[in-house]
Amino acid sequence: MLNLGILISGRGSNMESILKSIKAKKIPINPAVVISNNSNAKGLAIAKKLGVNVEVIESKNFKGNRTEYDEKIIEVLKKYGVTPKNGLVCLAGFMRIISPTLVKKYKNKIINIHPALLPAFPGLNSQKQALDYGTKFSGCTVHFVDAGMDTGPIIMQSVVEIKENDTEISLSKKILKEEHRIYPEAIELFARKKIKVSGRKAHIS
Ligand code: GRF
Repeated sequence: MLNLGILISGRGSNMESILKSIKAKKIPINPAVVISNNSNAKGLAIAKKLGVNVEVIESKNFKGNRTEYDEKIIEVLKKYGVTPKNGLVCLAGFMRIISPTLVKKYKNKIINIHPALLPAFPGLNSQKQALDYGTKFSGCTVHFVDAGMDTGPIIMQSVVEIKENDTEISLSKKILKEEHRIYPEAIELFARKKIKVSGRKAHIS
């Protein structure tokens, strides 16, 4: 069975929905480790409560560059069997740009959830970006991570309607509900080997 490593920085609600789906035996993958770059991340307590190993590699005051930090991540992933050959890495609210070293080593083995319909509104505050732009729909995207910012092959998307009275808070809430639904689904597709990547396209069988 594949080993899953989840990288978080904060609340950890996507992590929780993934771990709960695994526990409900919906996804054939071993939840090997949750890694946080922030020792205050709320998600750490949730992971522990669900019986999953947690590790913190504090990024604040880290003495070294991005590559050196990511080498620490790779070390911990390997310790738990999350290897490029036998693992999957999920970014779930991990608030760091990852280095080309990590991306290359885990090519098409790192996935991310983004709270907008990519390629629209990459980067931070995507819900606000969508509201400010005036789009009538937004949503979320699960995608492979490549060297760019939110640019990798798209695995799954879900659309939500933006209503006249939506605020950043209400829109974020609607989108998050969909994130919690599609992220576990995308991981299940990966675990069942139903995703093939060619060029920038992820084909689902
Ligand atoms: C989510 O909105 C996700 O799309 C974005 O960061 C947020 C993380 O929330 N990448 P949580 O930590 O999973 O609750």
